[in-house]
Amino acid sequence: MKLSYAGNALAKLGDPPQDRVTMTQHIFVLNGPNLNLLGQREPDIYGHETLEDIHQRMKTAAPNAEIEFRQSNSEGELVDWVQEASKKASILILNAGAYTHTSVALHDALRACEAKIIEVHLSNPAAREPFRSTNYVAPCATASIAGFGARGYLMALDAALQMTA
Ligand code: DQA
Repeated sequence: MKLSYAGNALAKLGDPPQDRVTMTQHIFVLNGPNLNLLGQREPDIYGHETLEDIHQRMKTAAPNAEIEFRQSNSEGELVDWVQEASKKASILILNAGAYTHTSVALHDALRACEAKIIEVHLSNPAAREPFRSTNYVAPCATASIAGFGARGYLMALDAALQMTA
């Protein structure tokens, strides 16, 4: 699938499409529990943007990319989607929410995943409660982006597009 992508530097995030690069790519963006509540949930920590706002921003940043954007509160469903991403996607951008800190099942699915994994968090879990320092996703990820709010998703998308450019 042809993909047109605007820009190749973080400074250009949000800019309209220009300097197009053509590449082949299918990106899964998976979101874990409670991220459906973004915008209402602890906005002082997670910001005012909704998950759909983030989805739209990603589509705008890479209008022709095949972005499969999903959210689930269910651990098993996320495991199924990681397995699907392994077959269909070159890059998996994952915000596993609280399962980041608890889920061995997700860890095992990620270990078996053939897509490259970019971990994203809106907040910086390492700077919060001690239980958030346990992380079952990071050891399986190529990279982690945390603490930049919704912009972290666009940073991950920018990186994803660079990784297979
Ligand atoms: C989060 C951080 C997690 O610790 C928390 O459980 C979340 C959101 C983030 O994006 O900052 O649900 O993944």
